Amino acid sequence: MKSISCVAKTQEGLEDVLLAEIENLGGINAVKGKRHVSFETDQEGLYRMNYNLRTAMNILVPIAKARVKNTDQLYAFAIRVKWDKYMSVDKTFAITSSVKSDYFTHSQYAALKVKDAIADYFRKFYGSRPNVERDLPDIKIDVHIDRENVTLSLDSSGSSLFKRGYRKNAGHAPINEVLAAGMVSLSGWDRKSDFKDPMCGSGTIAIEAYMMMCKIPAGICRMRFGFQDWDDFDKKLWLKVKEESNAQRIEPVAKVVGTDILDEAIEQAIKNVERIPGEKNIEFKVLDFFKEPIPPGTFMVVNPPYDHRIGQHNILEFYEKIGSTLKKKGLGSTTWILTGNMEALHQVGLKASKKYHLMNGSIPCRFNKYEVYEGSKKKKFQKNIPST
Ligand SMILES: C[S@@+](CC[C@H](N)C(=O)[O-])C[C@H]1O[C@@H](n2cnc3c(N)ncnc32)[C@H](O)[C@@H]1O
Repeated sequence: MKSISCVAKTQEGLEDVLLAEIENLGGINAVKGKRHVSFETDQEGLYRMNYNLRTAMNILVPIAKARVKNTDQLYAFAIRVKWDKYMSVDKTFAITSSVKSDYFTHSQYAALKVKDAIADYFRKFYGSRPNVERDLPDIKIDVHIDRENVTLSLDSSGSSLFKRGYRKNAGHAPINEVLAAGMVSLSGWDRKSDFKDPMCGSGTIAIEAYMMMCKIPAGICRMRFGFQDWDDFDKKLWLKVKEESNAQRIEPVAKVVGTDILDEAIEQAIKNVERIPGEKNIEFKVLDFFKEPIPPGTFMVVNPPYDHRIGQHNILEFYEKIGSTLKKKGLGSTTWILTGNMEALHQVGLKASKKYHLMNGSIPCRFNKYEVYEGSKKKKFQKNIPST
């Protein structure tokens, strides 16, 4: 099958995880960059990546590249692309753009120029033009400008892959599914021992962990991918990819548990996980983290509140209490904490044995690992040193 060059976009800090995922799924010549991994595959591989990748936001297929220094040059380049190879007048389209350039300061303006070029191309050759549809376009085109280098790509995913389709109910401050899956991977959880998120909100981290343990394709609940609206869409091949991927599923070997102090959060989590066909061995229940036992061997990944907006009046005390609870009751446990509140994280008072920098939307976060063993103690001298 014909080789296709692709660029999978991800979130900062998840590039290594995505690279490994792409290689596992058979991607060739995978190379990581900042917030993306480029690789080669074929049509079947492209379908497989879209259906299975957990830490990709979108998979782009570049169709044209050029060097341009102003919007007139951008328009002149974009109108030379043979757009009728990729779409017809009766399709709708939308343009996303990202610009890092002194030549182009407004990404929206660059997108507008490409949109004009596409419309003018079709008017010239077909007498009418395809319509723009922002929310659910048939064809999504991505414009990326890095200094004077512009790349036009088709977005094979369509809407972002973090929209898995199982989370219709989200509570306060949910994290996106791509970040949750990335955290579970980075945590090094062996997928054989029990897993817990003790402040699970709408259940995202626990659900992603469960899907990973059972090898359930990330896109199992998604209704649509961008490539399904492409002219070359091969339905038979797509059904084969889905069938083969679904057949990889295995029975759960450990228990995944999500708990939260709020009834409504647990109700949402239960509704979300019920959308995954055949779910079992995942449990959500209402519990206060501070009142639960933490048996030796407990493995937790948690995204606590960052500030008072989600009901924590004294967020520093809240994190201090997390630390003292782990020290008092959690001997032999491992806890990964994701937070955007560095000052609060410092109050945990345990030494992190691993640290990552991640982004939760626009919030820079730390993702730290705390292992409690005999002799773990609060390092008083750390109190006023900002944690890294
Ligand atoms: C940032 S949200 C977690 C969002 C979650 N990761 C998601 O994707 O939906 C923090 C959660 O901690 C919960 N929480 C706060 N105090 C708690 C406690 N003492 N025990 C258990 N959960 C608690 C809140 O109810 C809230 O749902």
